[in-house]
Amino acid sequence: MSAMAKEALLPELHQILGEQGLQTDAALFAGALTDHHGKYRGRALALALPDSTAQVAAVLRLCHRHDIGVVPQGGNTGYCGGATPDESGTQLLLGLQRLRAIRSVDAANFSMTVEAGCLLAEVQQAAADADRYFPLQLGSAGSCQIGGNLATNAGGLNVLRFGMCRDLVLGIEVVLPDGSLCNALSGLRKNNTGYDLKSLFIGSEGTLGVITAATLKLWPRQRSVATAFVALRDLDAAIELLTLLRETAGETVNSYELLPRPAIELVTQQVSGTRAPLPAEEDWYVLCELASSAVEPLDELLQQALLIASETGLVRDASIATSERQRAEFWKLRESVPAAQRQFGPSIKHDVSVPISQLPAFVREASARVTQLAPQDLLVCYGHVGDGSLHFNISHADDAANAAFLAREPELKRAIHELTMQYDGSISAEHGIGRLKVDELARYKSAQEMTLMRAIKQQLDPRGIMNPGKLFPR
Ligand code: FAD
Ligand code: MLT
Ligand code: ZN
Repeated sequence: MSAMAKEALLPELHQILGEQGLQTDAALFAGALTDHHGKYRGRALALALPDSTAQVAAVLRLCHRHDIGVVPQGGNTGYCGGATPDESGTQLLLGLQRLRAIRSVDAANFSMTVEAGCLLAEVQQAAADADRYFPLQLGSAGSCQIGGNLATNAGGLNVLRFGMCRDLVLGIEVVLPDGSLCNALSGLRKNNTGYDLKSLFIGSEGTLGVITAATLKLWPRQRSVATAFVALRDLDAAIELLTLLRETAGETVNSYELLPRPAIELVTQQVSGTRAPLPAEEDWYVLCELASSAVEPLDELLQQALLIASETGLVRDASIATSERQRAEFWKLRESVPAAQRQFGPSIKHDVSVPISQLPAFVREASARVTQLAPQDLLVCYGHVGDGSLHFNISHADDAANAAFLAREPELKRAIHELTMQYDGSISAEHGIGRLKVDELARYKSAQEMTLMRAIKQQLDPRGIMNPGKLFPR
């Protein structure tokens, strides 16, 4: 963009957004120009901060007219560089944080309509205030936004029972790239009137439009909960115990998170206020939680299932939380793994999924490859195994050799992703594609699927202004 075009655009943006809604001094929004991991650093024309859907629409209309690239940004907690503008300085960064209203809560319909910039924690709280439960739960709940969650089709800790974001949404409001409004807000659970457009925008990572609001499904408040930290015989036991729990405790199984011993050691060493509930004697542990909206003796149910599992040798030891404080301690241990890894040193991360039944075989084979390729590095393989998803991360502690470690990223990634595909898995279980995995997507998605995706992009965004360079190569 020429200096002249920029001169012309900024006053128009100012007119739409007012003093509070436009920042042009990059020093004041430097944090928004870098992604969560500090892997990408961009520049931007300005930071637009609209406070209504109408303002978002006016900004997109203007950008569409001038062919200005627009990068939507929520809480900037994403892992794939999707919310970071490129280095050209010609794209407009669009922050959603001022779209913060809880528009309505319909307790009898078990739904609520919220604006995109609400923090996930605020959405959860608003549901709780109405004696309802919104089940999306991520370690970043205090800083990610519901719009960002939908744009990435976030997963998290309760997918086993409640599904990913696509399963939690009834309706959506999106401003399309030309500034027109697609109002598909709806509180209906049954609505078979053509294509499911909301599911197209969920997971589109800001490449098809800007999500400005959504109608979310709610559930009855959870009244009973039982949480256990369990030491396992081996990795196969993780899947056998999951099956046993699902067969005995049915749909009350909310979460089932795998933690290897190195992850527990890393967290307790790096993150203050954490401690291991059991002695670190086994290689594999799970944190599992049952919950119900009825008043039920879930502790007893969990205890009985774990007793059977220990009699058959699956379980070596277990601790059931006896207070809310202890339960929070278990979860803090789990949710601190990403922070502990960051403090430890650089990591090469893989966010993969395979069919649950194949998970132990996959982990064994993938671990053997890592041992062969990077014997001196630390494998931290943990995650939401209840839904087949694994954060298969390799961490490095020797500061002096960081550059050499990171230079091996393409080789390690290729090895893990090739294996993932052999297991009929996915190279992005929950974090998305963004900028990080554009090449991997093109490599592993079928040609036909890529053609269909490009056709949709072309139809909705023929000028290619929405989040250029994300999902697709430029
Ligand atoms: P951003 O990072 O700001 O943006 C992400 C993408 O969405 C970008 O492409 C952006 O352009 C687009 N976008 C944002 N808002 C909008 C909008 N309103 N309209 C259109 N496009 C938009 N993720 C999981 O799935 N599961 C986890 O368990 C999980 N745990 C995490 C734990 C920690 C500690 C951290 C830091 C992150 C974790 N994440 C997890 C990753 C991250 O929190 C999620 O991807 C989250 O959904 C991103 O939301 P955000 O508001 O920060 O989006
Ligand atoms: C998690 O489950 O902790 C995150 O999705 C993975 C991460 O933060 O690296
Ligand atoms: Zn995760």
